[in-house]
Amino acid sequence: MPAIQITGLRKSYGSFDAVQDVSFTVEPGRVVGLLGPNGAGKTTTLHVLLGLAAPTAGRALVQGRPYGELDDPARTVGALLDAGGLHPGRSGRHHLRALTLAAGLPADRVDDVLEVVGLTPAADRRVRTYSLGMRQRLGLAAALLGDPDVLVLDEPANGLDPAGMRWLRETLRTFADDGGAVLLASHVLAEVRQVADDVVVLGQGRLITAGSLDELARDASLEDVYLDLTAATEGVR
Ligand SMILES: Nc1ncnc2c1ncn2[C@@H]1O[C@H](COP(=O)(O)OP(=O)(O)OP(=O)(O)O)[C@@H](O)[C@H]1O
Ligand SMILES: [Mg+2]
Repeated sequence: MPAIQITGLRKSYGSFDAVQDVSFTVEPGRVVGLLGPNGAGKTTTLHVLLGLAAPTAGRALVQGRPYGELDDPARTVGALLDAGGLHPGRSGRHHLRALTLAAGLPADRVDDVLEVVGLTPAADRRVRTYSLGMRQRLGLAAALLGDPDVLVLDEPANGLDPAGMRWLRETLRTFADDGGAVLLASHVLAEVRQVADDVVVLGQGRLITAGSLDELARDASLEDVYLDLTAATEGVR
């Protein structure tokens, strides 16, 4: 069974189709980049997948079920949506502790994930004092708390320095090599190149191309496709 299965997905806001006719799968063991320019429908797709928005048509399934029908969502899917929803006066450790309580996860996961994301030295500082990259790391720590099978990450590389990028790549690689599946959205081709095995390209809400990064990169088609796409859709819709 695919870890993630998107089939004929459409999400409309009034008469505007933010996403239409999008289908792709993410298999266990793969890191898949969801690539597209601003406004292409990446975040909308992730929101529907995570049950934060209802599909207008089609389906978005995790391990064969809509998110809302998962038996144990916190241990199945970890998500990083944006680093903005943090309580600035709380420490990173406090933030993660609150999440474990809310999700019924064991409290000792907090120290584990702080270590994995390299935030142990800053764990007791207030989130207000964190840099953008540190907030991203905290967001990833939160996504990993439930030791999930699937990670869904929206622009996870945002704010990461080169060492942070390498760390992200290695963390996601290890996660996938252990059988996990990762879907990560980004509008930056170079970022997707660094971390993903496969890529799904969206443009104006539609699927443009999908395949392994090796295949698409071999004939340089990915860069051409993406440059054409970003040139054609200058400015958002
Ligand atoms: N709640 C909403 N109501 C109306 N339109 C929306 C809503 N959410 C998203 N849209 C529109 O849907 C389109 C796709 O937005 P989305 O956020 O999915 O793009 P994205 O690919 O994540 O872009 P970015 O790279 O800027 O994050 C945009 O035109 C956006 O304005
Ligand atoms: Mg987005």
